[in-house]
Amino acid sequence: MEEKIVINGGKPLKGEVTISGNKNSAVAILPATLLAGSPCTIENLPDINDIRVMQDMLTALGAKVDFHDNTMTIDPRKVNSYKPPLELARKMRASYYLMGVLLGLFGKAEVAYPGGCDIGARPVDQHIKGFRALGCEIKTGHGCYLCSAKQLRGSEIYLDMPSVGATINVILAAVKAEGMTSIVNAAKEPHVVDLANFLNAMGAKIKGAGTDIIRITGVKHLHGCTYSILSDQIETGTWMAIAAGTGGDITIRNCVPFHMEAVSAKMMEMGYTVQEGEDYLRVIGIPRAKAVQIKTLPYPGFPTDLQQPFMALLSTARGTSMVIETIFEGRFRHVEYLRRMGAQIRVEDRVAVIEGTEALWGVPVTATDLRAGAALVIAGLMAEGTTIISNVKYIDRGYECLVDKLQKLGADIQRIEE
Ligand code: UD1
Repeated sequence: MEEKIVINGGKPLKGEVTISGNKNSAVAILPATLLAGSPCTIENLPDINDIRVMQDMLTALGAKVDFHDNTMTIDPRKVNSYKPPLELARKMRASYYLMGVLLGLFGKAEVAYPGGCDIGARPVDQHIKGFRALGCEIKTGHGCYLCSAKQLRGSEIYLDMPSVGATINVILAAVKAEGMTSIVNAAKEPHVVDLANFLNAMGAKIKGAGTDIIRITGVKHLHGCTYSILSDQIETGTWMAIAAGTGGDITIRNCVPFHMEAVSAKMMEMGYTVQEGEDYLRVIGIPRAKAVQIKTLPYPGFPTDLQQPFMALLSTARGTSMVIETIFEGRFRHVEYLRRMGAQIRVEDRVAVIEGTEALWGVPVTATDLRAGAALVIAGLMAEGTTIISNVKYIDRGYECLVDKLQKLGADIQRIEE
């Protein structure tokens, strides 16, 4: 039996939607709770597959975990293993944050090569460079990174690119290291700041998160705390695209409009209306947008995670658009399926050229990764006729109750088992 999503498109979606907690924050903050000497309560967690996998990994390491109503309590006092189960670690990208955490906790970690979306080579050389600078030895064997350090010592680490994963992993390893660590050319994404705020609430000394240089002064002890996860920037952007593409009018609640500035600006350039409140955005769509150029960049630039959803909108824009993907070389696998729906897209290396067409039509398509899945849902909502999306497991990795939320706004969408 395989679950599929079936959409009868062409309906403008109207109403209100509430954004869930940030997936990428959550998958960093949950492993970080193991560094505390007492239990933590984490609120506003999205109830999605990646969080369930992380819950299983923390439990397997010896933590006592309880998860209900989007709140998880984690008691790390009996954590006694530095080897997360290989099969769980391979299910998600963020399992590699356990390297930083377990190094900080035990001076040792054996973690499988990470899984996650297949959107490019995704090397981890910057993580390893950071760990080595802190005094860690790293070998590979049996599909794992074998890390060990007698004593982690603060150091200055220059990242070749502002990698989100490497910035977070180095912070995690450095919070309890001896002395000061500086991360130069650090990632500035909202979830990096969220993790730093959480660790500081546990007693860490981290300064500069959200800027190019982060400084961490190691502390001996961290204590448990209660913390509420930031709202999800990428889910917010996905809903902005849904409102726009369906010619709808959606008020997106519990979001941070400041985190969406690059996206809002691009949407206004495309001819959509974006109204900002303190913690909400209202987006009003139009039948066909104006063609634009989108270049993905690290935050505060246009996020690579929204490039695919926005390509669905550009498929029916008036004129020729261009999408330049500078972060992940493999992030164009949705193009094949948008083409099947009638989009006219040419891809050369990291550039997609989109000749806007009048309309898309529904056909069977396949989600090849999480945000490709979101792009196909948006294309299906925009299209005439019926779109059937398979491989919905990818969509479930990142969106909480997407189908339910869409139904409430008037979409003709359902999950079926085949
Ligand atoms: C994170 C997000 C992902 C998002 C991406 C970019 C999580 C769990 N995932 O992924 O949703 O699309 O940021 O915003 O937070 N790189 C190297 N060597 C390294 C590390 C990265 O060459 O050691 C390269 C990558 O191949 C990529 C670029 O740096 O080209 C950025 O990657 P990075 O910011 O690390 O992305 P992730 O942390 O994997």
